Amino acid sequence: MVSQAENDLLTLVGAGQPAGELLRRYWMPVAIAAELTDEEPTKFVRLLGEDLVLFRDKSGRIGLLGDRCSHRGASLCYGRVEERGISCAYHGWLYDTEGNILETPPERNDAITRSVKQKAYPIRKFLGMYWAYLGPLPTPEIPKYDVWVRKDGQRKIVIHPRLDCNWLQAMENSVDPAHLQILHQELIGQGVKPVSTTRGFTDDVKSFDFEVVSYGIIKHREYINGKTDEHPLIFPNILRQGAATQIRTPVDDTHTNHWHVVFTPTPDGSTVDENEDDIPIEYVEPYKNPPDKRHPEARFRMNAVIGQDHMAWETQGPIADRTTEHLSYSDRGIHLYRKLVREQIERVQQGLDPMNFMRDPNHEMIDTNLYGEAQGVKGDRHPAGLYTAEKQPVKV
Ligand code: FES
Ligand SMILES: [Fe+2]
Repeated sequence: MVSQAENDLLTLVGAGQPAGELLRRYWMPVAIAAELTDEEPTKFVRLLGEDLVLFRDKSGRIGLLGDRCSHRGASLCYGRVEERGISCAYHGWLYDTEGNILETPPERNDAITRSVKQKAYPIRKFLGMYWAYLGPLPTPEIPKYDVWVRKDGQRKIVIHPRLDCNWLQAMENSVDPAHLQILHQELIGQGVKPVSTTRGFTDDVKSFDFEVVSYGIIKHREYINGKTDEHPLIFPNILRQGAATQIRTPVDDTHTNHWHVVFTPTPDGSTVDENEDDIPIEYVEPYKNPPDKRHPEARFRMNAVIGQDHMAWETQGPIADRTTEHLSYSDRGIHLYRKLVREQIERVQQGLDPMNFMRDPNHEMIDTNLYGEAQGVKGDRHPAGLYTAEKQPVKV
């Protein structure tokens, strides 16, 4: 267990909070690019506890501004997009994508246009999504993780329901290999029932271990039949599973968006001419009913692996109370990940770049499949539906 102060340090995402400042060093997906249309050119975005509006002006520029107008606070979500930016619907103050105030109707108040600036953040388009960066300038690069930039296959974006809990619960699950054979036992048995529902398929596993690597943590699992699997955690908020990456984007302290980038390599390694505007998008049905309630008012459906995970993460509470937990030996990956988060928070506090903060736009592609095993689990009891590109040859 940890103290309340330690729990706050690891979980809270607002500006000025230790974890919040760490997370502000990374680009985060905030919207599907195709969601901004001529008919609906604005979209409300909450990221890291900040209320923002994403918009496309009539010159095609994309902006991400503070949602509340600098004049008297009306939402810019209802603003009218124009050639030069977005005009607040209430009194018409006009902002460009940099947050400069261009007009202050009905008068022209130069004192205000010179001294006041609307909060504005950089936006990039990548993989058919808009990504935001809320940290200090200059902006870093979006890391070239292999499954995001490889040319020998196609990607799909899968939007899972928003999680009504803190981001760290989902990430701790990524270094928690013990839960797979128990939580998901009904879905991984391929018709075989475990002898004991308490132990599930745990006894198929000989051992698991963890290794800190340059981009995060690799967890290895070895089965008694000699087969192995591994799921790299890409620091700070991504799980790679098979060739898919699961990105957990903190909305605020108690909500997290869950984006999957699913990469399917070509069987023969041939190159695919992928157009990022044509990447298919899939929206997953809610995992709970009613979808806008928390436990215990909501009931989760347990017929999907990720649905089971959502149940486990959300029922730990909006922010898991780690002052009352009892970690065991099998939780050592969680201990390791928390240590890594703490270390990287300290680096930021010392003015250093944290892990996976990329400055060089021409950096080499990052191999997140160091041991060639992440492509698909090789155990006999393959978790059905968990992996999208099982047992495909890996070419990096
Ligand atoms: S509140 Fe936006 S222009 Fe007045
Ligand atoms: Fe799981």
